[in-house]
Amino acid sequence: MMMTRIFAAALAAVGLSATAALAVEGDAHAPENYAWEFEGPFGTFDRNAVQRGYQVYQEVCASCHSMNLMRFRNLGQKGGPFESEEYPNPNDNPIVMQIAAGYQVEDGPNDDGDMFMRDGLPSDAFPAPFENEQQARASNGGAYPPDLSLIVKARSGGADYIRSLLLGYEEAPEDSHLSPGQYYNAYFAGGAIAMAPPLVDDIISYDDGTTASMEQMAEDVVTFLTWAGDPHMEERKQMGVMVLMYLFIFAVLVYLAYRQVWRNVKH
Ligand code: HEC
Repeated sequence: MMMTRIFAAALAAVGLSATAALAVEGDAHAPENYAWEFEGPFGTFDRNAVQRGYQVYQEVCASCHSMNLMRFRNLGQKGGPFESEEYPNPNDNPIVMQIAAGYQVEDGPNDDGDMFMRDGLPSDAFPAPFENEQQARASNGGAYPPDLSLIVKARSGGADYIRSLLLGYEEAPEDSHLSPGQYYNAYFAGGAIAMAPPLVDDIISYDDGTTASMEQMAEDVVTFLTWAGDPHMEERKQMGVMVLMYLFIFAVLVYLAYRQVWRNVKH
């Protein structure tokens, strides 16, 4: 009897905390489910979308968000947006070299002990927009723009959530309490986000001529961020298919062997 009661109380407690957790999450809209090309066991990245997404990151998001785990050469590696058969070593890839050379990087010290600036190289990291977290917060009304290297994995809802967030700015409802520098976004927990709507139609002009609508840019930048957080996804899926084929052929062989072995046995 006692045991049953304790058990029931424990169950109730678990139930309560689960509802409490839901209530907190219930604050935000569930992200819209979007049909990504890279989803599913055979999904691959749309190479053009990853390229355009890099352009969106570089021209829009990079002024506030770092991607500390990325180096320019990653852009030209196998599966990357600027992968090229001609240049298996991304350090030799002219597009990657050109992108890197567009940045000035501090290097040194030289023989006199001084630091100096030089053109970026493929082996350099993506430059961070701020020196440190304090400076980033000071420039963003106290809020910290998180590093985007692994952001798709770091948020529940992943790619769907980030796409919804980028497209989810709305007129604030009457009862929302926005501080100065906050914007209303129903997909963000709490509704008040310190990031101004980063995307507006035609805020950039795509190198490949695609129309830069908000939806297009959101889809592209999220595809790029998904690739950046999981650059070996395609190889992993290919490996999965090979393993399944192997298992299938193996199963057929086992079946034939079984027939052969039991050929003369009455059963
Ligand atoms: C003007 C600066 C600025 C720009 C430009 C900007 N962001 Fe942000 N972003 C922020 C700040 C500040 C936050 C933190 C917001 C908060 O915590 O309220 C943020 C937060 C985020 C988050 C995290 C939301 C969460 O769930 O915590 C994501 C994802 C994001 N930004 C993506 C992007 C993308 C993608 C772009 C480019 C299309 C972009 N941002 C452009 C300032 C910026």
